[in-house]
Amino acid sequence: MHATGSRNRLTEHQLDLYPGDTLFARLARTVCGVGVLPRKELHEAWEVARRVRRRFRGGRVVDLCCGHGLLAQVMLLLDETSTEALAVDLRLSGNHQRLSDALTATWPKLAGRVTFSQMRLQDVELRPDDVVVSAHACGGLTDDILTQAQSVGARVAVLPCCQALRQRGDLDGWLDGSLAVDVERAVALRAGGYQVWTQAIPAEISPKNRLLMGMRAGR
Ligand SMILES: C[S@@+](CC[C@H](N)C(=O)[O-])C[C@H]1O[C@@H](n2cnc3c(N)ncnc32)[C@H](O)[C@@H]1O
Repeated sequence: MHATGSRNRLTEHQLDLYPGDTLFARLARTVCGVGVLPRKELHEAWEVARRVRRRFRGGRVVDLCCGHGLLAQVMLLLDETSTEALAVDLRLSGNHQRLSDALTATWPKLAGRVTFSQMRLQDVELRPDDVVVSAHACGGLTDDILTQAQSVGARVAVLPCCQALRQRGDLDGWLDGSLAVDVERAVALRAGGYQVWTQAIPAEISPKNRLLMGMRAGR
C-alpha cells in the first residue's frame, strides 16, 4: 500500500523499508526520522538527482520551486565538488528547515552549504556555472526556469508537470498533449543552442516522469 509513488508521509514506521548502508538507504531513513516528506518526494528527488549528476558535475546547485529542498541537498550529497546550493520557493513550509537539520546531522559536511530563499524564482539571479534543477514546477513555471537558465547559459534539468495544453504547438495530432508540450520545450532548448537529454524516472514514482536536461552546446 505504501508504494514509491505514495503521497503518504514517511515516518519512523517506514524505517524497515530502507535497510542497509547505501547512501540512498541512509537518506531514506533520515527522511523517515523527520516524518514530513511524502514518500514520492524522496524517490523523485533521488531519481532526478542521480540522473542529473551523471551529466552535470560541480557548479552552484539552484533548486527552483524547491518545496522541502530535498533535491538541492541530494545534489550536494552526490557531488562534493558543488560547494553550495540555493533552494528557492515562493512559500517555504517551515518543514524544510527540519529536514535540512536532520540531513546535516547525518552528513555534517552539508553544514552551511544550503541557503533557503523565499522568493519568486523569476527574481533569482542565475550564474553561468549554475546547475539549475526543478522537480514539478507547475505549468509555465517550468518555461520560466528554462528561459532563465538559457539567458545565462546555465545547465538545467526540469521534471515538468501540469503542462498548459495551449503550448502543445502543432504536434498534438500525433502526441498526447502534455508530451507535445514537453517535446516543444526540448526542441526550443536545442534551437537555443543547447545540447539536450531526454530521460524518464520510473513511472511508478510519478506519472509526470519526463526529465529534460540541457547544457549549452560546446560548454
Ligand atoms: C508542485 S510544488 C513542487 C515542490 C517540489 N519541487 C517537489 O517536487 O515536491 C510547486 C512549488 O512551486 C512553488 N512556486 C509557485 N510559484 C512560484 C514562483 N513564482 N517562484 C518560486 N516558487 C514558486 C510553490 O510554492 C510550490 O512549492
